[in-house]
Amino acid sequence: MPERIPLARPSWTDEMRMAAIDTLDSGRWVKGPQGRAFSQEFAEYCGVEFASPCNSGSGALIAALRLLGIGPGDEVIVPSLTFIATATSVSMTGATPIFAEVEPDYWCLDVEDVKQCITPKTKGVIGVHLFGQCYGTELIDLCKEHNLALIEDAAQAHGASIVYNGSLTMAGALGTISCFSFFPSKNVAVGGEGGMITTADSEVGIRIKSIVDHGRDGSLQSQEVGTNMRMSEVFAAIGRVQLKHLDDWLARRRSNAAMLSETVDSHPKLHAPQVRPDSRHAWHQYCLQTENVEAFLQHMATNDIDARRIYPVPCHQHPVYKDHQQANDEFPVTSQLSEQLISIPVHHGLTNVELERIVNALRSY
Ligand SMILES: Cc1ncc(COP(=O)(O)O)c(C=O)c1O
Repeated sequence: MPERIPLARPSWTDEMRMAAIDTLDSGRWVKGPQGRAFSQEFAEYCGVEFASPCNSGSGALIAALRLLGIGPGDEVIVPSLTFIATATSVSMTGATPIFAEVEPDYWCLDVEDVKQCITPKTKGVIGVHLFGQCYGTELIDLCKEHNLALIEDAAQAHGASIVYNGSLTMAGALGTISCFSFFPSKNVAVGGEGGMITTADSEVGIRIKSIVDHGRDGSLQSQEVGTNMRMSEVFAAIGRVQLKHLDDWLARRRSNAAMLSETVDSHPKLHAPQVRPDSRHAWHQYCLQTENVEAFLQHMATNDIDARRIYPVPCHQHPVYKDHQQANDEFPVTSQLSEQLISIPVHHGLTNVELERIVNALRSY
């Protein structure tokens, strides 16, 4: 029997193992040189001045919203199709998430629908680079036009980029403030839970490290309400090694995705994900669309390949939002996608033999 092919396989090498052990041996387990270096290297990678590691992608979102002064009485527009943390991070601050429809082709926020959601209470928008695909740059222009903060949920998009104002701009530099996750399945991981906040905005940037450290300044006095959302030194050391390999891993993810799309495109019952023009997808997930989800899942299971429905319940329909003003609203594109999207393995850890097995399974469906 061949081994089952997983949807994600975190990279773990001797280089990472040594980085972790050396850091433990150093006795500096928190607030040390690894975290400082990881901030700097990650900021450089994204092309921004400021970054701060933190405890998770969800923590990064909550910290970002707090940095922007968002709280009770405010509204923040979020996509109806995303991981639930995008919406619940807004609720955690006491503000209200307002759900907007996603695009039928690229599955990120539909800018026309976002326009309809803007009210005098709107303070910001959280745009998600869903599955590693950047949101459209019209969203950036819309937020500028309406003086709204744009929080970039880049949890799935390490290394994605898009042309904005004539230059290729990295995820992490496409919003007022940006949030990444290092959950083990993500394109960069840290050996546990972790996140990163980035910004080019110097007003926000000077507070980006203190918000995850009790709101304290250099003299250890709390200037604003914060808490301990720091990343451990061991995780930062592992993250630094992973970041060095990200571009090679992205090349592998992109060639895997191209191979999958070639097969999916020629299949009468499967629809391949589309890549936005002038952008570089980071392929955190490869999600195809099909009408007969159960038959496809069964076929992949028979071939020992992990495949699973992704976001089968749109955010506004989660029980946590049963009393939300939009709980019974219709989002036709989101509804259809939540019924038809299936994620199959695309990760950089796939071997050539595994990739061939996936392609053959797609062909034989
Ligand atoms: C789009 C999106 N936002 C936020 C998060 C939250 O990140 P974390 O799991 O690190 O808290 C995730 C993680 O899966 C995500 O995919």
